[in-house]
Amino acid sequence: MCGIIGIVQKGKILKKKLGTVLRGCLKNLEYRGYDSVGFAIITWNGELVVRKSKGKIDDVSRKLGFDDYDGVLGIAHTRWATHGKPSDINAHPHVDCKNTIAVVHNGIIENYQELKEKLKERGHFFISETDTEIIAHLIEDYKSRGYDTFTAFKKAIKELKGAYALAFIDKEVPDRIYFARNTSPLVIGLGKNIMFVSSDIPAFLEYTNRVIVLQDGEIGYITGDEVHIEGIDGTIVDKSKRIRIVDWTPEMAKKAGYPHFMLKEIHEQPLALSSTLAGIGVEVEKLAEVLASAQRVFLTGAGTSYHATLIAEYLLNNLAEIPAFSFISSEYNRYGKILTKNDVLIAVSQSGETIDTLMAVRRAKKKNVFIAAISNVIDSAIPRESNIAVYTRAGPEIGVAATKTFTTQVFLLSWIIIKSAQIKGSITEEEAKTLYSSLRRLPEYARNVISINEFLAKKIAQDMAGKQSAYYLGRGLAVPVSMEGALKLKEIAYIHAEAYPAGESKHGPIALVEPGFPVLFTIFDDEYRDLILANIEEMKARGAWIIVNTFEGNEKAVKLSNNVFKTPRVQHWVAPILHIIPYQLLAYYTSIVKGYDPDKPRNLAKTVTVE
Ligand code: F6R
Repeated sequence: MCGIIGIVQKGKILKKKLGTVLRGCLKNLEYRGYDSVGFAIITWNGELVVRKSKGKIDDVSRKLGFDDYDGVLGIAHTRWATHGKPSDINAHPHVDCKNTIAVVHNGIIENYQELKEKLKERGHFFISETDTEIIAHLIEDYKSRGYDTFTAFKKAIKELKGAYALAFIDKEVPDRIYFARNTSPLVIGLGKNIMFVSSDIPAFLEYTNRVIVLQDGEIGYITGDEVHIEGIDGTIVDKSKRIRIVDWTPEMAKKAGYPHFMLKEIHEQPLALSSTLAGIGVEVEKLAEVLASAQRVFLTGAGTSYHATLIAEYLLNNLAEIPAFSFISSEYNRYGKILTKNDVLIAVSQSGETIDTLMAVRRAKKKNVFIAAISNVIDSAIPRESNIAVYTRAGPEIGVAATKTFTTQVFLLSWIIIKSAQIKGSITEEEAKTLYSSLRRLPEYARNVISINEFLAKKIAQDMAGKQSAYYLGRGLAVPVSMEGALKLKEIAYIHAEAYPAGESKHGPIALVEPGFPVLFTIFDDEYRDLILANIEEMKARGAWIIVNTFEGNEKAVKLSNNVFKTPRVQHWVAPILHIIPYQLLAYYTSIVKGYDPDKPRNLAKTVTVE
């Protein structure tokens, strides 16, 4: 949902030109949006240069010569269009009438029409269709009434309604970058005589790992050697208490020889799982205890994270015997009315910033529901606003399609739920021991799953690339895995893919099946393993292309299928973590065969910060 980077140095600190460094940082944010790109730099002799265009970072930076520009400070932006189509004019930064102020923004200003009309009456003229442009003019307007830039900014911010993370520069104050955050994420990176402001940490990891994650309502500025932050009530924030050292390395945010981040992240799953395992600590115990004594547990998330909640819901109901209800976070009203202070809400979000999930958390909080967050980003909004936060340790995920963050979410949730089942006594100590030991073996098994299935995924992708539609079917715990598999194929290979409980397929979906129609069955070693064979037969009888994703030794299913993805035989409760991997690989390679960029699927952005 748009990526912002701002850099200010005290003297010439950067070895390269500022334009080159801004471009490099922006590349690390490309997953947030990629329909247009731009930058604004204050040059060493005080000029404000603004360059922007429709297109992706590499193309635009070549076209506009990013690398030719140097200066004391600059801001840059990669856009995911909300107000106004992708175009040169709608690209950020946006400037005021006098070309003095340049603004980059992520989010939506809800009252921009009203403000635009007011500003027009006061003589301002607008050239874009964006909501962002009004910010530059609003600040300009307050300045024209005699306020200094920071005061004008604070006054302008008070008039904005909606979600924003924004940064701006003013040619008349050529040593600082101003910023504000409300709902959309923004972080400060603190270097030595160089400071950064960005939508996400990987943007500047190469330069510093000391960060401050801004909170809603915070506003301030950075100079080369100073960070000034004020809270919503004007109190100055004590930075020393807020600085965090992140343990991500710059290499983690690089492709490390892989052609795409997505493939790298699929391959990183064994490591991401072991790191998550190693990170299990007291918070996990605490949350397990909270769950064990909860009357009801609700779970929420969006997209892939929602699929993780469906697996957790199943485990809570069946292993821990705690009534559990999962819902898509933008569908809060499904259960909103019945939530009470005796309930627990688990909010799952890799980024910790997805607005739909954040809003569900906020609404539940108003009803005094106990909130637990599962996230991959320390100090992000959802964990911060929750009563307890437990983190996956997947490292930064740059590919837009979630892979390693999904498997680590499911891993962590499974561990927590097994613990709560143990505390509750709904499973025996012996059963708990077996389940933990299955989970402990998953990093090694995940490695096997990748090596056994990657070649086959590549091969199947050749045929899959020619298909219009596919079904992903499973029963029980395999349903959410099917949903996640279908989402992967849909979002990066642009093939219409739908998931159903296999038993449901004969109640409608089967009407579409004709010879060659791909149907992918996920089969665990559970009570459904034989029942699902009848569903395979039904599809086979209609000439479907049967791909089975099952455990080693399931010969009955193998006999009925055209292709088989195999995974080691594990306890079915933990099997989702392994069985999703072949589907990730299949989606990746299908996207490649079709000539797409799996890291940047069209119309998508990684962190969705608009409702
Ligand atoms: C799919 C995908 C999205 C996210 C969703 C929630 O591959 O990445 O569906 O899962 O936007 O994001 P988080 O987990 O950051 O809340």
